Amino acid sequence: MLNRIPEPELMDDPLEAEVYSITDFSDVNQKFVEAFCENLPACDKLLMLDLGCGPGDITYRMHLCCEQHKIIGIDGSPSMLRFAQKQSSCRMLTWFLADAKMLPFCNRSVDVIFGNSLLHHLLDPKPLWKEMQRVLKPGGFIFLRDLFRPETEEKAKKIVELYAGNASDLLKQEYYRSLLSAFTPEEIQEQLVECGLENLTIKCITDRHVDIFGTVS
Ligand SMILES: C[S@@+](CC[C@H](N)C(=O)[O-])C[C@H]1O[C@@H](n2cnc3c(N)ncnc32)[C@H](O)[C@@H]1O
Repeated sequence: MLNRIPEPELMDDPLEAEVYSITDFSDVNQKFVEAFCENLPACDKLLMLDLGCGPGDITYRMHLCCEQHKIIGIDGSPSMLRFAQKQSSCRMLTWFLADAKMLPFCNRSVDVIFGNSLLHHLLDPKPLWKEMQRVLKPGGFIFLRDLFRPETEEKAKKIVELYAGNASDLLKQEYYRSLLSAFTPEEIQEQLVECGLENLTIKCITDRHVDIFGTVS
């Protein structure tokens, strides 16, 4: 099994943030929104957080899909958040600079937390799992999607070529680093057990993506 090589937590380099923000992830981002909406319990007027929202494309798509819910996009990187703020802002869609492991919300005050590609950025994700538990109301819903680490470097290289073969060298290198920094489904399971979240479902949905979702008690 390939050892994990963690990448830096925040994407705060201005060039890195710019390259990420202008890359077209519309297809995968829209799929994320659709999968989330399929799993979201039917309810009115929820408070939802997008943790590690980056340039906010998913956050904005989610807002278009769920205009009745208040969504706050949160990122710890000022460079990324600058791009997110350009998306749109209104009463139901706002942005906040904060560490996802120390959220500026009261205990049991949030209905839903979602996030794409945040987990693999954290050296130790347990503080994140615990923080999500703290701020979510009982019955609150979590939906995270991330990469999972391939078994070998060769498999990681093949994934990069297959899905990002035409991308710039910088993006390819970042994708490769992200795959090596990702957790395996077994490691995620261990984290959930340690944090008392073992009732969440872990599901590999492609050859490189894993969803973690469910309600907290
Ligand atoms: C790979 S990007 C994903 C962005 C967005 N979710 C998307 O799918 O397009 C990961 C984002 O998580 C942010 N991030 C990493 N660690 C964080 C933390 N502890 N608190 C808040 N944001 C964090 C990074 O700055 C980066 O913008």
